[in-house]
Amino acid sequence: MIAKVEKHRLPGVFTIKTGDRSSLATRSLVPGASVYGEKLIETEDGEYRLWMPRRSKLAASILKGLKEMPIQPGSRVLYLGAASGTTVSHVSDVVGLHGIIYAVEFSPRVARKLLQLSETRTNVFPIVSDARHPTRYSPLVAGSIDVVYQDVAQMDQARILFDNLSAFCSDRAWGMIAIKARSIDSTADVKVVYKKEISALENYGLEIVEMVDLEPLEKDHMMVVIRVKG
Ligand SMILES: C[S@@+](CC[C@H](N)C(=O)[O-])C[C@H]1O[C@@H](n2cnc3c(N)ncnc32)[C@H](O)[C@@H]1O
Repeated sequence: MIAKVEKHRLPGVFTIKTGDRSSLATRSLVPGASVYGEKLIETEDGEYRLWMPRRSKLAASILKGLKEMPIQPGSRVLYLGAASGTTVSHVSDVVGLHGIIYAVEFSPRVARKLLQLSETRTNVFPIVSDARHPTRYSPLVAGSIDVVYQDVAQMDQARILFDNLSAFCSDRAWGMIAIKARSIDSTADVKVVYKKEISALENYGLEIVEMVDLEPLEKDHMMVVIRVKG
């Protein structure tokens, strides 16, 4: 079946149409390599990797209508909670060879695949460390960061984001945080949990730019885009 590739309105993101199906995709920096079993689509213009919204909260956010995408070609990204690199691999395609991703994961077992990924993706710099302690890995991060992306599923998510923004970013930098309501409070109404987390981010002086509820693609998750006030 012939695949039709179209640029998405967000830079570095594509839509691939095959028959009556439409999927998000990124243009692969490493043709021939499927990272997590995603389908590869060969076209005259290069190879594309389908970006699965049920495997990546960033893809889910885009499908749910994310308006501001701070991660763009050339961005310098600090990614907290990289796991085995599923979303990191797509971010690597999006930022391209002029961008970089410092990918932090604290579980050495989970990070094994991330380390393998970084062998073929030269813009991925893996860091096995705890995102709650940015001073432990700050010597490894060169220069200022444009976007801190956080998906750690921890209770103190707002503080972790703020501490990393403070350590690595200047004014007007961006943050993206996937809030997992059930990691913060397993019994409270999710709307109450979101409200509390938004207040916590605001209390750190951060500007809330956008909130995207990821239901039904990700249960009880909200993606929040924030900006450091100038
Ligand atoms: C939901 S998974 C991340 C999935 C990944 N972002 C993706 O889309 O491919 C959360 C990850 O955060 C890691 N994590 C949790 N707390 C952390 C911390 N304090 N520092 C670094 N990584 C952490 C966990 O080990 C887990 O691999």
